[in-house]
Amino acid sequence: MTIQTAPASLAASGEAADQSIEIRQFDAPLGAEVIGLDLSKPLSNADFARIHRAHLDHHVLVFRDQRITPDEQVAFSKRFGPLQIHVLHQFGLAGHPEVLIVSNIVENGKPIGLGDAGHFWHSDLSYKEKPSLGSLLHAQELPALGGDTLFANQHLAWDALPAHLRDAIEGRAAEHTYLAKYAELQQRSPWRPNLSAEQIAQVKPVTHPIVRTHPETGRRALFVSEHFTTRVIGLPEDESRALLAELFAHSTQPEFIYRHQWRERDMVFWDNRSVMHLAAGTPDDQRRKLYRTTIEGDAPF
Ligand code: SIN
Repeated sequence: MTIQTAPASLAASGEAADQSIEIRQFDAPLGAEVIGLDLSKPLSNADFARIHRAHLDHHVLVFRDQRITPDEQVAFSKRFGPLQIHVLHQFGLAGHPEVLIVSNIVENGKPIGLGDAGHFWHSDLSYKEKPSLGSLLHAQELPALGGDTLFANQHLAWDALPAHLRDAIEGRAAEHTYLAKYAELQQRSPWRPNLSAEQIAQVKPVTHPIVRTHPETGRRALFVSEHFTTRVIGLPEDESRALLAELFAHSTQPEFIYRHQWRERDMVFWDNRSVMHLAAGTPDDQRRKLYRTTIEGDAPF
């Protein structure tokens, strides 16, 4: 589907001018490319409305070749809501605490960013009372090999959920915690920092419904992940583990997935209320660096 919009002339009021935008849906279970929008320019209200609509419709938006600064990424992200600061604040970009450096690069023996972000399937900050509405990743430096990001459409996962699983999760909630895989990740990545008492206090376990309703579209979506969901509330441990394993396997099947192969200066903006994502991995000898912002969302219901 292609939606062509006509550019408007600069408003005499000094408001931002509309740009000529085309939304081109991918041949995939989700995702679209936004053509013709330069994110270094102020976004008009009409363009904001088009991008907002496209984000709800396609769940993942790709903006190619964006020559933008961190300030411009922050300004665009803030149009959608307040930004969240990651608990690993040591990987925030200097002078921009809302920008998380996602990178496997080690300089002077120290990691410059979070190298294994996205190693397990997840929805960003689902371990908070108010998980992320959306996240934006801007490519700074890309590997010649690997480094893809996969997105799984959780509305489709819910729609296709077998009846026995629907019955099993009906009305149930699950616990999410940031610490669920932390020790395992630390074993794989020795540079992953120990958390201070203050950081641990910021990530107390929370519970969310296993099926959430998108607050803007009303569509239902599965909302459990291999990375952060630890147990189904009210079930014995073995039943809970078995049920979650079935849900994790179901929710990440190939028919729900768009695989993003990064190009220089891509900006990718996804809806954490609709998708989960996974970093496919980068070979150790390849450098990869992206800047991430996350927008606070609502408490899931
Ligand atoms: C993330 O989980 O936000 C990072 C994804 C990626 O590095 O591809």
